[in-house]
Amino acid sequence: MLFKSEFLAKVLIYFQCFSLLINRFQYDANNYQYHCDRVENVFFIIIVIERIIVYEGKQMFRRAIVRTPGKSMVNGLTTAKSGLPDYELALVQHAEYLNALNECGLDVLVLEADEQHPDSTFVEDVALLTRECAIMMNPGALSRKGETAEIKKVLKDYYTHMEEVLDPGMVEAGDIMMVGSHFYIGLSERTNDKGAQQVIEFLKKYGMSGSVVKLDNVLHLKTGLAYLEQNNLVACGEFLSNPAFQHYNILKIDDDESYAANCIWLNDKVLIPKGFPKSRETLENAGYSIKEVDVSEFRKLDGGLSCLSLRF
Ligand code: GLY
Repeated sequence: MLFKSEFLAKVLIYFQCFSLLINRFQYDANNYQYHCDRVENVFFIIIVIERIIVYEGKQMFRRAIVRTPGKSMVNGLTTAKSGLPDYELALVQHAEYLNALNECGLDVLVLEADEQHPDSTFVEDVALLTRECAIMMNPGALSRKGETAEIKKVLKDYYTHMEEVLDPGMVEAGDIMMVGSHFYIGLSERTNDKGAQQVIEFLKKYGMSGSVVKLDNVLHLKTGLAYLEQNNLVACGEFLSNPAFQHYNILKIDDDESYAANCIWLNDKVLIPKGFPKSRETLENAGYSIKEVDVSEFRKLDGGLSCLSLRF
């Protein structure tokens, strides 16, 4: 059930805080009243704040939205030249992906297939979800523009503040990487500067920031980059020497495993595509707990792990 695990986690943390509070008070039988030492009160407040920070930090992502692939996915955009995806296998892999999100503690809303839009299973591209607001994208690919309408309706249930990138701006959120409250926006064939500047203005309005990165070879920014928290940045190809990222601890992905650069940090676990042993080892050596997911059929459509979900 949607939000069940989030609800249980909240009940547990707040029960813990309540127990701490009760323990702070002692009954004074002589005066028939409870009293609480001031110093103890200060300690109590510190502990409660610490617990909540730890809880919030570990549970950075609580929900995800995915869309079941439609049969029309075989007509999706691609440059991969690795053949048509096997639809039945794609459904199996999509279900495994959903399970992996659940294992990372996320409650997942599954939208029905949208046969009108062959690439609509790649939901990440149509919206940027931040802690403060949702920003609807205006996809650069003509065949994907119609994907935003239904996602916008869905997101209204979760967000009070919604913004929207408008023509002549175009942005696909696969080109946007979040690092805390800063967002890197790749300028690609799908994302132009006018769109990126609109996103940066929206971010500023809500106390966040953004900057642009020029892309040379990749489809989207996150085709070759993934931020795994704790200053660790997975990177390959053109991003390894990009000055914008040199202050991060770069976890290098070799060119022959470049598909694995599109991985996702989710509440202390990292999801990576199956079949990239060197990349897996690199991330394990960096201390991450890894979950592999086979997304071979989505790779045939230039789609990576992150493209398959909106996480917030
Ligand atoms: N096939 C995914 C995309 O090109 O947007």
